Amino acid sequence: MEVLVIHGPNLQLLGMREPDVYGREKLDAINARLKAVAEAYGVGLECRQSNHEGEIVDWIGRSPERFSGIVINPAAYTHTSVAIRDALAAVRLPAVEVHLSNVHKREPFRAHSYVAPVVWGTISGFGPLGYELALIALIRLLKGKENAKDEGAN
Ligand code: DQA
Repeated sequence: MEVLVIHGPNLQLLGMREPDVYGREKLDAINARLKAVAEAYGVGLECRQSNHEGEIVDWIGRSPERFSGIVINPAAYTHTSVAIRDALAAVRLPAVEVHLSNVHKREPFRAHSYVAPVVWGTISGFGPLGYELALIALIRLLKGKENAKDEGAN
């Protein structure tokens, strides 16, 4: 089993980007944490970052060829991208949406997610730990897929 992690726009700047909001941990460190979690579960992991909506759409569209599930922080595209939402809905791979910050405590435009209705669930406000929680949730649900399907997820 292999999981795809997608980090959206500006997340390559983690560490120096608005540290009061996003913390000081760099993307590489977050990805290393995720690798360790995946390894502990015996699951393969690929982490990618892009600032380009179409590239993320392409990755999602091709994801079923190789991956069993997706962890995605669509970043600003969360609030704008019908294309990313449609790609997730099209491939129907189990996915978990992550936000480092609590998007509901911030500007009102961040409270709306185009992606939320087509993912299994959303984790927001726990900083880098949120990625680990998302990955663990995804792996555990994938491993017990039959039950998860019964719940009508995705
Ligand atoms: C974010 C929240 C988004 O509103 C913002 O545009 C981001 C990061 C988060 O991880 O908290 O770039 O997705």
